[in-house]
Amino acid sequence: MKSFKKGYRAVIAGSTGGIGRAFLQILHNDTNCGEVIGLSRSTTPHIDLLDEQTIADAAQQIGGEVHLFVDATGFLSDHQAGPEKSLRAITPENMARLFAINATGPALLMKHFIPLLPREERGIFATLSARVGSIGDNRLGGWHSYRASKAALNMLVRGAAIEASRTRKQAVLTALHPGTVKTPLSEPFAADRPRLAPEDAAARLLAVIDALKPEQSGSFHAYDGTEIPW
Ligand SMILES: NC(=O)c1ccc[n+]([C@@H]2O[C@H](COP(=O)([O-])OP(=O)(O)OC[C@H]3O[C@@H](n4cnc5c(N)ncnc54)[C@H](OP(=O)(O)O)[C@@H]3O)[C@@H](O)[C@H]2O)c1
Repeated sequence: MKSFKKGYRAVIAGSTGGIGRAFLQILHNDTNCGEVIGLSRSTTPHIDLLDEQTIADAAQQIGGEVHLFVDATGFLSDHQAGPEKSLRAITPENMARLFAINATGPALLMKHFIPLLPREERGIFATLSARVGSIGDNRLGGWHSYRASKAALNMLVRGAAIEASRTRKQAVLTALHPGTVKTPLSEPFAADRPRLAPEDAAARLLAVIDALKPEQSGSFHAYDGTEIPW
């Protein structure tokens, strides 16, 4: 990454996921990066998005300054429930689960890790949203809980960016769409469609991050750098 000083520190939340693992690998190989720390439910320290104390503890253990924080956590479906094709398929339990992981969880990452972004230097908090979370871009309907949870995440990014800019003039907070990527998350829905390799998606997203300026904080970008309507 060229936009950070030599020896910068990075944290990847969701480093065990398809895209998160690729972020971790690329930053491991970046000679400019001093340290990269991966976080998930199976790392040390670990984070569980459903347990705020684990996030607070991880932030405290990592401490110091974090120049680049990438949140690559997220959830779409499992054997219990898949994305809804109609309003009839909505259940409060599943909707609450998606909001907890895709919106509240990242909000808690913002709460505990934005304070670690440098006060006087460049600092990035990027979170993986999804184009289907765009209200302006929704022409197909369906996937109600996932779409709404990502729209909520986008709003949290926007609000946090305004708040962070008061104390961290060079901070950039951004929501990113990685494209359709070959990972376990997309497997049940896009296995027959062209998908980006995780390494390719992560490299493109890091290039987008590298180019973002503080005046672009609170924005929503795709992996090719284009801005996505809210
Ligand atoms: N793949 C795509 O085509 C695509 C498209 C658009 C947007 N996205 C977004 O990109 C992000 C990453 O997706 P992916 O495809 O890489 O997914 P993935 O392979 O399923 O990885 C998901 C990651 O989220 C973590 N996670 C899930 N629940 C958690 C919890 N309760 N606490 C802590 N960590 C938790 C997992 O960690 P554990 O190891 O602890 O389970 C894992 O590291 C998601 O936000 C997704 O919505 C993906």
